[in-house]
Amino acid sequence: MSKMTHYLLALGLGLMSASSAAFAQDAMTTPTGAPNPAPRDASLKPVFDDFGGKAGLVSLMDDFMTNLLADARTRPYFENADQAHIKAELVDQFCVILDGPCTYTGKDMVQAHRNLGIDRAGFYALVEDLQLAMNKHNIPFRSQNKLLGKLAPMHREVVTK
Ligand code: HEM
Repeated sequence: MSKMTHYLLALGLGLMSASSAAFAQDAMTTPTGAPNPAPRDASLKPVFDDFGGKAGLVSLMDDFMTNLLADARTRPYFENADQAHIKAELVDQFCVILDGPCTYTGKDMVQAHRNLGIDRAGFYALVEDLQLAMNKHNIPFRSQNKLLGKLAPMHREVVTK
């Protein structure tokens, strides 16, 4: 597909989704103009398997949230939030990124984090808490880094101060 076709497609999808919370997974940007929060990457299918598929992600997210709540740097953000909802959205988001059989219908990263006042330290803290959870689940280091490589650029949308 040419770059122009892709661009037009993204524009069209943007208009289509203006009245709906969900947006197409392949759109390059979301209604806020932010990059696709769940960019599917077919080359990461083996990584999806290393994570134990969707069931592995569900279990991983339980430990991730436990870590976030035990960490004084991240607890303030999550203690009064809908933790079950966030975990479910994260499962779908990571599942799509790793080319699993899922659909992400949550907010884009700008929408989800715009009112939270997250700084760089908060972002790094969350990444550390994710790494601890992945280590506990014996995810191979190479596969951990593949996922982190997809998440790292999202600091542009998540960090607002
Ligand atoms: C790459 C990093 C991050 C990713 C991929 C990510 C992903 C997500 C997702 C998928 C949601 C759910 C969106 C929805 O409700 O539709 C969410 C919500 C949330 N995130 Fe993040 N996030 C990241 C970084 C952070 C950081 C660093 C913090 C704070 C230290 C944070 C705090 C929150 C909170 C509190 C919510 C819930 C907001 C609400 O109640 O509406 N996130 N995030």
